[in-house]
Amino acid sequence: MNSVYLLAPAKINLYLEIVGDRPDGYHELIMLMQAIELSDLLEFRLTGIEDIRLFCQHSQVPTDQSNLIYKAVNLLKKKFPAAYNNFGGVDITLTKRIPIAAGVAGGSGNAAATLVGLNLLWRLGLQNNQLQELAAELGSDVPFSLVGGTALATGRGEKIQPLPPLESLWLVLAKYDSLGISTPWAYQTYRQQFSATYIQDSQAREHRSKTIYSEPLLQAILAQDAPKIGQLLHNDLEKVVLPAYPQVNQLRQAFQKAGGLGTMMSGSGPSVFTLCQSEEEAKAIQTQVQTELASLDLQCWVTRLVNKGVQRVRNNT
Ligand code: C5P
Repeated sequence: MNSVYLLAPAKINLYLEIVGDRPDGYHELIMLMQAIELSDLLEFRLTGIEDIRLFCQHSQVPTDQSNLIYKAVNLLKKKFPAAYNNFGGVDITLTKRIPIAAGVAGGSGNAAATLVGLNLLWRLGLQNNQLQELAAELGSDVPFSLVGGTALATGRGEKIQPLPPLESLWLVLAKYDSLGISTPWAYQTYRQQFSATYIQDSQAREHRSKTIYSEPLLQAILAQDAPKIGQLLHNDLEKVVLPAYPQVNQLRQAFQKAGGLGTMMSGSGPSVFTLCQSEEEAKAIQTQVQTELASLDLQCWVTRLVNKGVQRVRNNT
């Protein structure tokens, strides 16, 4: 095998709760994560030369060592030097379709795909649990991006518990093209404003993570109750992002007014989504919001929930 094509889906957060601070400096989180069909395409090709080269046409994607794709390659090179020496470098071509700095784990998906791609090309034979461990070293959302589907994520976000799929739902996802939000900024600002509400005791934090199983949203997911899921969407980071970015607040309000099952910001934003029962409903909401806001900067996607993570495709579709 000399080359492999992979699709890496974006995600939305149906639920994001910040429980408290962790000794490692991260936040203890409870998240309900959902993969969506909107995906990046990555081609990995063995070249037989030493270099690892990343190509991407998108002007806002860095193709230098700061890209998480390089971090994933470097991690595997360090852990498996014999495989790198044996098979050599790769050319990685990224076709970027997922919005950047949008809170939908586009970069994390690319890192997850890199682990899968090199596992295949360098014949590493890594199993899912080993890939998950490597993924957690690269970022909190990378383990979810590997498996995708519908899942509960706890800890830093790296502990993944798959849930029954919610495949039949659609969504409209929107983002102002020129607006990006830094995830560290969102969490640090949240800490500055809300650390008084954090659960301080580590056992109490763990206990909270377990009680999520009896929460109405998780029950609604298990019962496939779409209207309930829409009503119970939640994201603590909205409390800091919406006041600081009035444009995101306005976008969220326009979506909420347009209908659907429920509207929420995803991750640390600034993307906003509305869950819908059907593609038709999603398209109607998209048209209404685009007409109301009439902004050339506004990007919208109608897409659906999928029960997939990183997956192999035969060609570059
Ligand atoms: O893990 P990742 O690199 O994606 O995290 C980006 C940043 O988001 C972290 O540096 C941290 O500031 C914040 N974060 C956090 N708690 C988490 C996940 C992320 O504070 N559980």
